[in-house]
Amino acid sequence: MNRLMVAAAVLAAATITACASDNDTVSEGVERGGELYQANCASCHGADLAGAPDWKTPNEDGSYPPPPHDSSGHTWHHPDRVLIEIIRDGSDFPQSRMPAFGDRLTQEDIEAILEFIKTSWGPQEKAYQNQITEQDQARP
Ligand code: HEC
Repeated sequence: MNRLMVAAAVLAAATITACASDNDTVSEGVERGGELYQANCASCHGADLAGAPDWKTPNEDGSYPPPPHDSSGHTWHHPDRVLIEIIRDGSDFPQSRMPAFGDRLTQEDIEAILEFIKTSWGPQEKAYQNQITEQDQARP
């Protein structure tokens, strides 16, 4: 195989893998979202989205350690609107250490980060979160 054919084969394999795990093809948004995540979120939520080890145990001041964003966390329990609001405006948890990013990230940036986070969810988490997002959007 010449180089071009190898590149084409790799690309085809990547596309098939992407389609197998998600209906969306891997978009530029996911890539950008990944970079933005590493720059803004990974210091607390972990480069691998695994969160803090004891994230369910409150700190002494009543605040909580950063939770994971992968399937083991509860990020996928919230519809898109709520997640975007938490990232933009911060969280309303008592003593929350989650910063508000509204002055640093655009709506587009936040949506790209969410897209990236969603690539770490399994099919069930994805389907559930999709459903609650649709229900949330259908609310008057
Ligand atoms: C300084 C540490 C810190 C940084 C940086 C940070 N977070 Fe958080 N985040 C937290 C903490 C702590 C919580 C736990 C809930 C709370 O205290 O509000 C949290 C909670 C969240 C939640 C709610 C999760 C849930 O299941 O309810 C989301 C979504 C979230 N963060 C997204 C992000 C994103 C996206 C970024 C980067 C743009 C980011 N966070 C950066 C500390 C951080």
